[in-house]
Amino acid sequence: MRYAMAGRSVDDARGRAARSIPLWRMLPGLLRDPLGQLVAVADSAEGEIVRLNLGTIRPYLVTEPAHVQHVLRDNEANYTRGGNSMLWRPVRRLTGEGILSDGPQWQASRARMQPHFTAKRIDSLVDTMSRAVSDAVDEFDEPARTGRWFDAGTELGRVICRAISSVFFADRVSLADQLRIVAAQGTIVTALRARLLLPFVPDAVPVPGDRALSRAIGVVDDIMLPLVRAEMADPRDGDDLLAALARARDEQGRPLDERQVRDDVVASFATATETTYAVLTWLWPILDAHPEIAERLYAELDEVVGTDRTISREQLRALTYTRAVVEELLRMYPAGWLLPRTALADDVIGGTRIKAGSIVVVSSYITQRLARFWDRPDVFDPERFRGDQSRRGHRYAYFPFGGGPHQCLGMYLFNLEAPLVVATMLSRYRFRLREPGMPPKQLAAALRPGRPVIMALSPVRERRPA
Ligand code: HEM
Repeated sequence: MRYAMAGRSVDDARGRAARSIPLWRMLPGLLRDPLGQLVAVADSAEGEIVRLNLGTIRPYLVTEPAHVQHVLRDNEANYTRGGNSMLWRPVRRLTGEGILSDGPQWQASRARMQPHFTAKRIDSLVDTMSRAVSDAVDEFDEPARTGRWFDAGTELGRVICRAISSVFFADRVSLADQLRIVAAQGTIVTALRARLLLPFVPDAVPVPGDRALSRAIGVVDDIMLPLVRAEMADPRDGDDLLAALARARDEQGRPLDERQVRDDVVASFATATETTYAVLTWLWPILDAHPEIAERLYAELDEVVGTDRTISREQLRALTYTRAVVEELLRMYPAGWLLPRTALADDVIGGTRIKAGSIVVVSSYITQRLARFWDRPDVFDPERFRGDQSRRGHRYAYFPFGGGPHQCLGMYLFNLEAPLVVATMLSRYRFRLREPGMPPKQLAAALRPGRPVIMALSPVRERRPA
């Protein structure tokens, strides 16, 4: 579908006004398939920035890769996540004012946390993580033997927590408590939807989901605050994030505030679990709908992993198709799909005037489905990420992890963890879904499937005698 754009004035020196698309023209599509509708708007704009006239808010939609680069990297100082960005405010109730904010507080958090997530540090974790994933996947032996149905999201949450807990808290948080945090996050993400959809409503005005939100934040605090207090009172040597932040000092050499430690551990653990969980839950319906891709994946796993229980660094490197499947999943279902910013000062992007104080929306989902940059954008095809093809195109035609100074801190962690989970599970089991077909997309903080994915496993082959 194409969109006629409303007229606009041209003023070359200060850029021209963005074309504006009124709500009534988008509404039927937005109600049916909001993301599909936004991709259609962006396709029709043919590289220009458009302004969505949603009544009280009128965000600029920035989708062209060069313009995305301008906002996230080249002129990033002008595009803040903090301050008056209404879309970010609700998320802060969980994540506080550290790594997910902006300005000096963000900078200090980023500098403290960065060393924990570098490529080198994550690479040193391959063996530990591979064993942790293997142990977690062992627990599927029982449902695989009996053919019992289970909720993929819940079980993936368990596997993910076991894979990454050594990075975040060593053994200080029990698996049960980690799962309570993950469940609370699920409640928070859902409860925040009303706030995200009604960004102009002040916090003091109740909206549906507020009570559930407060209760869930209470669950997270009840687990994390006593733990942070105990760590700070008696610091350990560990290199997990909790131990390191509990020992950290600010620029004046003072210990951090316990709230700062809590905020940064919770924010990064929440981001890590929520995103990974969302992406890996999409895997099953996708493979179910593409049996030929599933077969290629199985063939690679059979050849590279065979009956090994843990995956080595060399095997991981050889799993090129598995990694391409994960990259393509991140193209079509990028968990961090919406990156809202607020323009601090007037700017001109690609000849279009951006007014100070307005909301600018960048979305990996939309750009990664633009027909001008992606051949058959709605087709799941891991071949795009094989060989040299992945190097084609603009850096910001594919940015599931964002870019610029706020680029995802967990990129290397995810790129290690996700192929490990996929390869460990699918080298041992085949799966079937109770309900075939792609689930609808739930537009929460992360792009989750809009209904539970219920599946069952069966062993690929008998276990080798020990
Ligand atoms: C599927 C996996 C993931 C995706 C798609 C994803 C995506 C993103 C994106 C798009 C951003 C940029 C946000 C912005 O510019 O406003 C981001 C930031 C961030 N991500 Fe991830 N992420 C993933 C996994 C993880 C993991 C495993 C961690 C674990 C530490 C993590 C921690 C963070 C943090 C702390 C930030 C904020 C960084 C900053 O502002 O300095 N993410 N992520």
